[in-house]
Amino acid sequence: MQKCTITPENAVLGAKISDVDLKATLHQKIKESIRTSLFEYSVLLFQKQSLTKQQQVHFSQIFGQPVPHPTNTRDRDEEVAEITIISNVVNNGRELGALGNSEVKFHSDLVFLYAPGSVSILQCLETPESGGETYWSSNIAAYDTLSPEMVKRLRGLKVIYKHRNQAYNPDPLSCRPLLCTHPDSRKKFLFVSSSSAQRIQGMGLEESQSLLDSLFVHTTQDKFVWEHKWSKGDIIVWDNRTTLHRRNSLDSNQRRIMYRTQILGPLTI
Ligand code: SIN
Repeated sequence: MQKCTITPENAVLGAKISDVDLKATLHQKIKESIRTSLFEYSVLLFQKQSLTKQQQVHFSQIFGQPVPHPTNTRDRDEEVAEITIISNVVNNGRELGALGNSEVKFHSDLVFLYAPGSVSILQCLETPESGGETYWSSNIAAYDTLSPEMVKRLRGLKVIYKHRNQAYNPDPLSCRPLLCTHPDSRKKFLFVSSSSAQRIQGMGLEESQSLLDSLFVHTTQDKFVWEHKWSKGDIIVWDNRTTLHRRNSLDSNQRRIMYRTQILGPLTI
């Protein structure tokens, strides 16, 4: 019977899963153990893997049905539409993938859509010596450390989300509770993805901004964050409900290429 080894990376989130070759046909029990580990640890790291694009789509199906990226049509792979290329490489003046050399601030994927990102998967094909490190913060730890008074204050409050590109936004805009319960694990978490959070529904702008700012600072405290420095062959799976993520900028002289798959699903029960 196949087995894999699960080693927690950090006190609040992240686990390494070893002794598993993701190219192989995985036993149903291994798939189940990987899926439940994601809900336990929020971020999973697999090392020394080398999946083709189609194999990455197949592996991603453990967590749901990967979709062609709903907004970024330009960086969808030409052969396998469910793969989005994330890269800073420029070939003959043409960008190979999304995000270039930019720093990306803490966020949860596609939160402005009615069906936001539930699980995201990144495979590292090329990475520089330094730059492009990715960080995840735990929304579960953020919830668990709220005072009872704050939980009472936040109960029932909802945040309106809006992407800066108006064409991506549904009408009416998406609106999501600050206090959520995970649809699979039933764990409670605090959810505020600051980059596209507009305001708290029904609250004055000033009070809303001040509350959102303080919650965002609370959620992304260093003690709730796990950093990953990439190596070729790493695959990271993360739960967008229970984490936010950000990444460092890159040096344009150093190459970074990643394959990404995206699953959509409900944020809360
Ligand atoms: C992102 O989804 O924000 C990009 C993550 C990364 O490139 O490390």
